[in-house]
Amino acid sequence: MAPVRLLVLGTGGMANTHAMNFATIPDVQLVAAVDVDLAKARAFAARHDIPNTFTSLEEALAWGEFDAVTNVTPDRAHYPTTLPLIAAGKHVMCEKPLAETYGKADEMATAAERAGLVNVVNLTYRNVAQVQKARQMVLAGEIGKVRHIEASYLQSWLVSKAWGDWSTESQWLWRLSTKHGSNGVLGDVGIHILDFAGYGAATDIDHIFARLKTFEKTPGNRIGEYDLDANDSFTMTAEFTNGAMGVIHASRWATGHLNELRLRIHGDKGALEVIHRPDRSLLRACLQEDVELAVWKEIEVDPIATNYQKFVAAIQEGRGQEPNFRHAANLQKILDLAMVTELERRELTV
Ligand SMILES: NC(=O)c1ccc[n+]([C@@H]2O[C@H](COP(=O)([O-])OP(=O)(O)OC[C@H]3O[C@@H](n4cnc5c(N)ncnc54)[C@H](O)[C@@H]3O)[C@@H](O)[C@H]2O)c1
Repeated sequence: MAPVRLLVLGTGGMANTHAMNFATIPDVQLVAAVDVDLAKARAFAARHDIPNTFTSLEEALAWGEFDAVTNVTPDRAHYPTTLPLIAAGKHVMCEKPLAETYGKADEMATAAERAGLVNVVNLTYRNVAQVQKARQMVLAGEIGKVRHIEASYLQSWLVSKAWGDWSTESQWLWRLSTKHGSNGVLGDVGIHILDFAGYGAATDIDHIFARLKTFEKTPGNRIGEYDLDANDSFTMTAEFTNGAMGVIHASRWATGHLNELRLRIHGDKGALEVIHRPDRSLLRACLQEDVELAVWKEIEVDPIATNYQKFVAAIQEGRGQEPNFRHAANLQKILDLAMVTELERRELTV
């Protein structure tokens, strides 16, 4: 296979996870790192043994010696950086959310489709083998008709300092400020939990009603240039295309949970539960005769390919790959509607 020359765009916290994952894939060469902050780009390049650094995408494009890019810039930079990359014929893996609005996400998906380039959005929890197995079991009819879905994404970084101090570090402050391109917890991890729920339960959302809340965090809810106005918690009721009802919620105030995703899928013949935490992922099932006494058993799962591996394989094999920009744009439409339901206080159809 021809090697894939990869450029890392944005060299903050999450870029380290990208570099470490791509470095383990044979035939991937990490050829350049780009960050508007030169010191960050240089430190990152030294840490991951990357030979070239640039302080703007324009400089990197003028150089041009790469086939693909992993875009790990903050949310609001995804759209203005991904479009020129597509125009230059580069395959792109982009961090979530694809953009701040459905309109921009749709434009990015359309541009990538027209250019015939591999486009993947990094919905990290597709890498959880347990959710992939849950989907297979639902599709195989093991729990019967799905009736009720419960999904949550729980974080506590507004309470715990395990990931740093949100009140002094820019990577947390931009996530709290709409002016800095954040749609709060809804935009940040809402896309993960919508995907986790819909993918795991093998269905799509077609009606929603959501409530969003921003709690007072400092006097006047402001720190320096950051207005702390982005939502911290959301709750959503959803109806799915398979007829099931569900609740989906997420919070940065979920004290006691650093990063935990839960999915419960109840069918008329059985039920599944997926729990994903930094230290452990688990799939439990209540099936067949166990339904009578509600007995749950753990299900073993086989390892699966990660989004990073799938992105590289798709480039090498010249084919498309999931989860793609179109899927992320469709999820963004639901996130946009959730904000409208908060304002209008009525259920909307996706
Ligand atoms: N998939 C996941 O599980 C996951 C986890 C964490 C973060 N993320 C996503 O990754 C992205 C980055 O998050 P982070 O926590 O690493 O943020 P960060 O603030 O730590 O890093 C972003 C970096 O991008 C740089 N940057 C900003 N604009 C740029 C531009 N135009 N060109 C080049 N560099 C630019 C910044 O200087 C910074 O170094 C976000 O979109 C976030 O939602 C995804």
